[in-house]
Amino acid sequence: MSDKPIKRIGVYTSGGDAPGMNAALRAVVRTGIFRGLDVYGIYSGYEGMINDDIKKLNVRDVGNIIQRGGTFLKTARSMEFMTPEGRKKAHASLKRHKIQALVALGGNGTFTGAQVFHEEYGIPVVGVPCTIDNDLYGTDVTIGFDTAVNTAIDAVDKIRDTAESHNRVFFIEVMGRNSGYIALYTAIGSGATTVLLPERETSMEELVRILNQEAVKNKAFSLVVVAEGNKLGKTQDIAEEVKQRLKLEEDVRVTVVGHMQRGGSPSGFDRLVATRLGNAAVEAILQGYKNAMVGISNNQLKHTPLSIAIKNEKEINMDLLRMIEMLAV
Ligand code: F6P
Repeated sequence: MSDKPIKRIGVYTSGGDAPGMNAALRAVVRTGIFRGLDVYGIYSGYEGMINDDIKKLNVRDVGNIIQRGGTFLKTARSMEFMTPEGRKKAHASLKRHKIQALVALGGNGTFTGAQVFHEEYGIPVVGVPCTIDNDLYGTDVTIGFDTAVNTAIDAVDKIRDTAESHNRVFFIEVMGRNSGYIALYTAIGSGATTVLLPERETSMEELVRILNQEAVKNKAFSLVVVAEGNKLGKTQDIAEEVKQRLKLEEDVRVTVVGHMQRGGSPSGFDRLVATRLGNAAVEAILQGYKNAMVGISNNQLKHTPLSIAIKNEKEINMDLLRMIEMLAV
């Protein structure tokens, strides 16, 4: 890659979508054009890069999307881009359009691909952290996390009504892959009895003790938030085991909130973060960053090498877990 001034950039969304991706795209496209760049949209992530599904965008292409969930550029998880042949095709498409740098919107998988691509072809890449999982190091929050938590809390609120009416114990599974952020924040925001996280081993004995303690105190119902990547097992199996061990007369039920967490209009907070980070990504390219993720830490913009953003673990604050247990009486 030559060090000619950057005049043309490409932007794409990849991996699982996240509410706020559209708001971030709007900021990228409009900042780029404001800075005198040509901005090209690459459709369906790395798939579109490989298949040359690329189109120049103008300011109106990103009008009326700040409030929309999903991504107007579409997204995909590309197996072909994991191969050197796939990346070669992708590089050829970029050359054809004279695209000199990339803004990548996505999570771990997206940035892993971007990192390899940068190493192989030297193309500058700046990542914008978009994932409901909030599992990227180098930013306090990822775009989409706040909306996903609000969606999950809304679901638990509704379950609370029926749980109370029927005196039931509910296990509510939320997303997050190997991260417990959605589960932890949902449990706090919904006043759940307890939460099962990937980051912390909870034995069946411990779970039963917590729920039993409640039963002893004659609480009519319980809400357990379960992270999909928790260490104890499948949510349905956990629920069955608890039912047997507690010899519960009342029913136990399982609800999986699922992909609902990935959709919907982004929250005000997600729109704000998306707009700041989309804007910062273009500025970072112009400042000469070649392989970084933009993030926000203590309300300040921050740049983290992609490899560190992917590899370093973003720790969960275990004091919050203790707080849930303290309050679930
Ligand atoms: O990474 C976002 C995420 O929603 C995870 O929380 C979840 O495990 C996964 O994607 C689901 O992926 P898919 O949409 O491919 O089923």
